[in-house]
Amino acid sequence: MSRNRTDQLLEFSLAGMSMRTPVMAASGTFGYGIEYPSLRNFPMEALGAIVLKSVTRYPRHGNPEPRFVETPAGLINSIGLQNIGIDALIWEELPKLRKYRCNIIVSIAANSVEEYGAVARILNRSDEFEAVEVNISCPNVEKQGMLFSFDPTAAASVTKAVKEEIIGKPVFMKLSPNAPDIVATALACATADADGVSLVNTFSALAIDIDKRRPILRRNFGGLSGPAIKPIALAMVARVAGAFRERDLHKPVIGIGGIQTARDAIEYVIAGASAVQVGTAMFYDPTVLKQIVGGLRDYCTKHSQNISKIVGTLRMNPEAEQDFPRRYGGSES
Ligand SMILES: Cc1cc2nc3c(=O)[nH]c(=O)nc-3n(C[C@H](O)[C@H](O)[C@H](O)COP(=O)(O)O)c2cc1C
Repeated sequence: MSRNRTDQLLEFSLAGMSMRTPVMAASGTFGYGIEYPSLRNFPMEALGAIVLKSVTRYPRHGNPEPRFVETPAGLINSIGLQNIGIDALIWEELPKLRKYRCNIIVSIAANSVEEYGAVARILNRSDEFEAVEVNISCPNVEKQGMLFSFDPTAAASVTKAVKEEIIGKPVFMKLSPNAPDIVATALACATADADGVSLVNTFSALAIDIDKRRPILRRNFGGLSGPAIKPIALAMVARVAGAFRERDLHKPVIGIGGIQTARDAIEYVIAGASAVQVGTAMFYDPTVLKQIVGGLRDYCTKHSQNISKIVGTLRMNPEAEQDFPRRYGGSES
């Protein structure tokens, strides 16, 4: 069946990967059946790609319960990278996903540069995926547990280690918003030859049981996702996309954080995201992806523009364009 003109308005190439729409399912919120069981009702035709739950070299049980808290505008989780390990992913899960004829992005995680390289080397033996997303919101055992994302040099080393192993497919580095300077980390990854960056993972968060005067989560702190984080993540996407543009780094930014509606997704695209990922909103309503894709299609139709022409069309107010506030996020209130 040929695709009509309105369908074509959402088609584009993401670092060489053909995307039918710019909307993806975010890592850990779709899983391979662990967090998102109702695969059968899922609107796969609406999706550009799905990003699988991060996998490590060996299976992990994750953190003890409780590991979820609902907040008024989001969700705090401390799942702790529960996953089946790279071998089981390749041999048991990837072949099952093929039938969905959707781009599959495998997310990998590790605790040392060497381990990232090892996971990537094993993954590269499979040809049942289209791209890799590297979750670097993980502690680096060689640096007293400092997250790779906090350290531009370590982030660049991981990028190089994975790029050396993954042949002929794009590698996207997924950054933590808790990093002291996310622009510096993004630039380090891009300069180390990443094919793009995914922004952002969850924000460090705490919920307290006031009767017990203890954290609600067993692991004390967790990661906040959902609508509460959208404006903050959006600002990070705009800053990183702006920094890439200034340096002529033609690398896509994938926007993630609190997207619930087509309007949210369009804001990310205007801010500089070539594609978006939706996570927490799917827990509340799995049909949300279809609505977001429909709204994006309407917007592109109304403006007679392919989605790729809308990316980064944000015009900043010139009188406010001082270097310091833009890069470091300062804004006098
Ligand atoms: C339950 C849960 C599990 C997650 N697991 C992962 C993961 O394994 N790897 C990863 O890179 N991000 C993981 N994330 C982060 C999401 O992919 C996404 O970056 C974040 O939730 C922000 O998007 P959202 O507000 O649309 O949910 C997880 C998020 C949630 C809520």
